[in-house]
Amino acid sequence: MTTMKRVLVLAGDGIGPEVVREALRVIDWIDRRRHVPFDVQQGEVGGAAIDAHGTPLADATMALAQEADAVLLGAVGGPKWDALPFAQRPERGLLRLRKELQLYANLRPATVFAPLVDASTLKPEIVRGLDLMIVRELTGGIYFGEPRGIELLPDGQRRGINTQVYTTSEIHRVGRVAFDLARKRGSKVCSADKANVMESGRLWREEIQKLRDESYSDVELEHMYADAVAMELLRRPNRFDVIVTDNLFGDILSDEAAMMTGSLGMLPSASLGDQRADGGRKALYEPVHGSAPDIAGKDLANPIATILSLSMMLRWSFDMHTEADLIEQAVEGVLASGTRTGDIMAPGMARVSTTVMGDSILHELDKLS
Ligand code: NAI
Ligand code: MG
Repeated sequence: MTTMKRVLVLAGDGIGPEVVREALRVIDWIDRRRHVPFDVQQGEVGGAAIDAHGTPLADATMALAQEADAVLLGAVGGPKWDALPFAQRPERGLLRLRKELQLYANLRPATVFAPLVDASTLKPEIVRGLDLMIVRELTGGIYFGEPRGIELLPDGQRRGINTQVYTTSEIHRVGRVAFDLARKRGSKVCSADKANVMESGRLWREEIQKLRDESYSDVELEHMYADAVAMELLRRPNRFDVIVTDNLFGDILSDEAAMMTGSLGMLPSASLGDQRADGGRKALYEPVHGSAPDIAGKDLANPIATILSLSMMLRWSFDMHTEADLIEQAVEGVLASGTRTGDIMAPGMARVSTTVMGDSILHELDKLS
């Protein structure tokens, strides 16, 4: 028996609706051609929600997100809402989703598709075949720790304070995501910290090791200092499979790894949270890029980051690995045939629109299945 997959789609602003439209066509394809029933609801987030409901994420939409098996989001923000005060801005919608769904593990793959090996600024022989996953802790650490603030000292200087805080349970829950992932991939985890200079980093290292010894002794674990990981990513990225790290180092290392692959238009992400009462897990899937106001409304955006985010949803929320593989193969096939949106175009190739890129991926899916 196939159970209904309940997906909430929040297209958002700028190119959000354009790239999400192509992902919806892929969902429809899976529903029809693979006979997996999807129940897709749509709602507003960001500027679109401000315009419709006067708030970047309405309570009713938040409730739909709580009930859904997974949320697919486009992008939020744009010049129209730039003048709003911080508390009312489009990004607040996204922050509310992350906070209330308790999405503590952010998964950012860095994958180099063979046809795009020349799009990287690194040498092809360094990035060929690259396929690694960074698991970043997303709801703790120095971005949230107390005390924080800027204070005035008696001598007239100002002092800025942020505090890195992690508890064992925060480390274990993100560690479990990384080890579970590793079991489905290369069975290898690298944990990045600064245990040499930070007590929170020493705790991180000890607890990740404890978790591995107690529950994941089949997975190979190595500890590295985060600065060494930054260097190794440029020197020998293929040595890594899953990298797990805290919020701050993960922010930086995931952007570094992402840029090795070429364009923002190619980069998907997943944010995973706690188990739900029915055994599923709260999850949000979204492209890494923003709303790209410079190209919005022109049918120019690359929809691949969003389509690959959908493929991550199939993999991590629904265990639909066959379909996820199909989507990734279809993307690779389309890229190999020289079909490119402007952001990944190479000399001598014709530029296709968002819609034509979607058409081509669907056509390739038809051929593959
Ligand atoms: P951006 O990611 O929207 O755009 C950066 C550059 O990359 C632009 O030149 C854009 O045209 C290009 N680009 C991005 N996605 C593309 C795609 N799929 N295909 C082809 N080209 C693509 O970042 P930017 O310009 O800094 O921010 C624009 C707006 O998006 C702002 O309002 C910002 O706050 C918001 N934003 C939202 C995010 C989200 O929803 N998660 C993340 C980042 C920014
Ligand atoms: Mg960043």
